[in-house]
Formats: sequence, structure tokens, C-alpha cells
Amino acid sequence: MNRDRKTVLIRLLIIGALLFVSSPSQGQEEPSDCVELGALAYDNWTTADAGGVGVLPTDVLNADYIRCKACHGWDRRGTEGGYVRRTRIETRPNAGAGDADASSRVIETGKVTSDMILHSLTGRSYTDGTASWVPLEPDHSAVNKADHARGYTLGNQHPDFSPQGPNWQKGIPSDLQIGCIVDFLNYEDGDPARYFAKIDPGQDPVLYTIVETADASAGEAFFLASCDGCHTVDFVTDYLKGDGKFSELAHKARWGIPGSTMERRAMGDPTAQDIADLLLFLQQASGTGFALTPGLTGTWWNADRAGEGFLVEFGYSTGALTLFASFYTFDDMGNQAWLVAQPTGGALPESGTDVPVDVFLVTGPMWGDDFDPGDRDLMAWGTGVFSFPGCTSGSVTLTPGAEAIAMGYTELSYGLTRDLLTSGVACPTAD
Ligand code: HEC
Ligand code: HEC
Repeated sequence: MNRDRKTVLIRLLIIGALLFVSSPSQGQEEPSDCVELGALAYDNWTTADAGGVGVLPTDVLNADYIRCKACHGWDRRGTEGGYVRRTRIETRPNAGAGDADASSRVIETGKVTSDMILHSLTGRSYTDGTASWVPLEPDHSAVNKADHARGYTLGNQHPDFSPQGPNWQKGIPSDLQIGCIVDFLNYEDGDPARYFAKIDPGQDPVLYTIVETADASAGEAFFLASCDGCHTVDFVTDYLKGDGKFSELAHKARWGIPGSTMERRAMGDPTAQDIADLLLFLQQASGTGFALTPGLTGTWWNADRAGEGFLVEFGYSTGALTLFASFYTFDDMGNQAWLVAQPTGGALPESGTDVPVDVFLVTGPMWGDDFDPGDRDLMAWGTGVFSFPGCTSGSVTLTPGAEAIAMGYTELSYGLTRDLLTSGVACPTAD
């Protein structure tokens, strides 16, 4: 460890000790100051907040060419995470989508060494970044196509950040920053798996399953205490509609944005639990990043209408997600009645959280030995719409057709909840 790093670390330790004395203990192990610095440096190590000098290195025209997050993603999962579809353009590299180099950009927590980050004599020079970009012309020649592919791949390569390599005189991360990025990437409680039980890049937008321990009402309280002074819920939920944005928000809300007033301290030093709670609250508040999944299977009801309810099963039929719903209820005379529903047109809509359904009333067959499937009379009862914006609450509207109206049925619309959550299928899930 060089002297610079030592003095800064000692200073950080003193600040740490003061904070410890002046703030009540959170009952949870706090990340070290070095981990916090590393988190900001992972975002953009050139900024002063992240321990950088505040200007871009020579020959780097666009910061993204040297920002860790630009190539590894906010969730460190590269194309297996939020950056699965991120485009590669002149001003920024990406996590490898469309690249000739298929090596994984996934960074495994606990396994990172400073040598991996330095890439001494194995990384590219800064000039091989932005400057290597060759646009693909509309009527491209073979040469233009090859140049484009070469520049595309080259700019996506990990830069040489070592004092031995081609970039050291242009400005590289300090020893302190490298050490703290290593600490950050190896900090177990900072692993995105603390917030996301699953990230499914196969869904567009990327589908996030928040860890089971998350609590949406705690997330709302956290938002009110830590974000509300600067943003509205609408602003943040709008932002989350973008592809892969839960990954980015998780990092920024936990660690702050270097060079802005959105500092970790200003948000009350969020814990991993705070972030999981926050993400669940925002996901449920907006339906953003939420999709209909088999994890919604279960018994849905409204406590004010105990005695009737819906058995809803989501599942795959010949590869496509569909649902089958049964409604146990009563007719206008008080007799038990069963209605069944299937998606209009057979399949679920491609996007959104509403499912229009066709509703049928089955009558005819008799009890026991007298049961004859040939007696079955399937009456088209009417239509309906289920809406499932979150894992535990939704709504239903049922609209009878002329025949059902003649039988005494009327339009029905109310909210649903699902209280039994022990199906063993995570929600949302795409498997
Ligand atoms: C322009 C894109 C780009 C940037 C910027 C970038 N990397 Fe990389 N990184 C890669 C690529 C591509 C690989 C995989 C191939 C290789 O090892 O060169 C990689 C590999 C790694 C690995 C090794 C993973 C393994 O298991 O072998 C680590 C760790 C890593 N990068 C961390 C970082 C950190 C930390 C930063 C920021 C200081 C950073 N990277 C910046 C593209 C980038
Ligand atoms: C002290 C004010 C402040 C607080 C507290 C704060 N933010 Fe921010 N936030 C900002 C500023 C300023 C920016 C713009 C920063 C920039 O891009 O340089 C920002 C940006 C954002 C963005 C957009 C990020 C982007 O890249 O476009 C989101 C989303 C966000 N904040 C969410 C939150 C959430 C969630 C919380 C609570 C955990 C929070 N903010 C707390 C000031 C704040």
C-alpha cells in the first residue's frame, strides 16, 4: 500500500469513527468508507466524489469508455442483466451485445482482484476507445463492415488501467480507487443479489424479481423519508419504465450519484434491505418492470366478499403463457354458481398486466353416477378483465351478456388480494 492510500484511509477511518459516535447504530454492519468510495468509483472514477481528479483522462472523449458500469452493467451482470439490449454507439461502449468478443462481463462478488481491474498489458489503450468507432454506412462495403466490427469490439475491451500500460500518463484510477473498487465488488452485502432474487434479461423490459424478504410498505416509508424531498414517486416510476432501469436505480439509491446532491448521506445511508423494500414498493406502485407470470397462480379474493373467490392458474400451454380462472360464486337466487374464464383469443396479451377474458357458465351434468359429460352445456356468460399490477393485489371486472342478464346477472367490479403466498413459485418469475 503506498503512502497516499494510507493517509487517505486513515482520514476515512477518523471520519468513520466520528460518524459512529454521532449517529445511532443501525443494528446492521455498515459498509466501510472504502466500499462507499469504490461504489462511486465503479460508477465514474474520474469524479472528485469518487476520489478522482475531476477531469477525463487525455484521449478519452466520452466518460463511458472508461466507466466500469458502461461495460459490466449496474448489476455487474453484463448482458445477463439490465444491459442485455444496451446499444453500442459512438459515444459509449456496451456490455458486449453484438460484439465479436463473447467473453462474459459478469463480475463475481468475492472473487475480484486488483489485477483483474488493472488489466496490465492485456487491456486496450484509451485511443482504442471512442476513436476506434467506425459507423456502419447504409450501403456498406465489406471493408466498411469489417472496420465497423473491429472498432465495435475494440472499444468494448477493458482498458489497461495499470502504470505499466499505454495509459498511465493520461490518467488512470489511483491505487486507493482500485483498492476500494475491489472492496466494493467483494462486499457481500452490496451484491445485487441482496435486492434481486432473479433478473430475467429474456423479458423486455428486463424482469426483476425482488427478494422475498422485501416489504413494500417499509419501502414506501423509506421513499418518504429519503427521496420525497427531491423527487415524486411519479418521476421515479416513469424512470423505471426504461429497460433495465431497476439495476441502475438500485445502485444509485444505495450509493448515490457522484457529482450530484443525491448523496448516500442525504438518503440516510440506505441498507440492502432499504433498497429491496424501495424497489418492491416502486414495482408495485407502478406495475413497471412487472409482467404476468406463473407466480400469480393462486386464490384471489376480496375479504369483504368472503364466500366467493377466484382460483387462478397461470401456466404455459404450447409454449405460450395463458391462464385458467374459476369463479365460485352465487346466482341471484343464492344458488352456488361456477363461472370459468379463459383469455380472449386464447393467449395473454403481449404486454401490460390486464387480461381480457371470455367467461362461461357450465350447467347440465348431474351428481355422482348420473354424471354424463354429454349433458354439459357451456353457455357464453359474457366477458371480463383481470388486472394484476403486482404479486398480491389486483382487480376484476365481469360484464354479463344478454343471456346472462336475462338470468339475473349484473356487472361486477372489485379489488382482489392474494393472501396465501406459499405456492413455492416466486413472483414475478418467468420460468
Ligand atoms: C470498455 C469496456 C470496459 C470497461 C470500461 C471496463 N471493463 Fe472490465 N472487462 C471488460 C471486458 C470485455 C472484460 C472481459 C474480457 C477481459 O477480461 O478482457 C472485462 C473483465 C473484467 C474483469 C474480470 C472478470 C473475470 O472474471 O475475468 C473485472 C473484475 C473487470 N473487468 C472489472 C472492471 C472494473 C472494476 C472496471 C472499471 C474500473 C472495468 N472493468 C471497466 C470491459 C470493460
Ligand atoms: C438531495 C436531493 C436528492 C435526494 C434525497 C435523492 N435524489 Fe435522486 N436525484 C437528485 C439529483 C440532483 C439527480 C440528478 C443527478 C444527476 O444526474 O447528476 C437525481 C437523479 C435521480 C434519478 C435519475 C437518475 C438518472 O440517471 O437519470 C432517479 C431515478 C432518482 N434520483 C431517484 C432517487 C431515489 C429513489 C431517491 C431516494 C432513495 C433519491 N433519488 C434521493 C437528487 C436527490
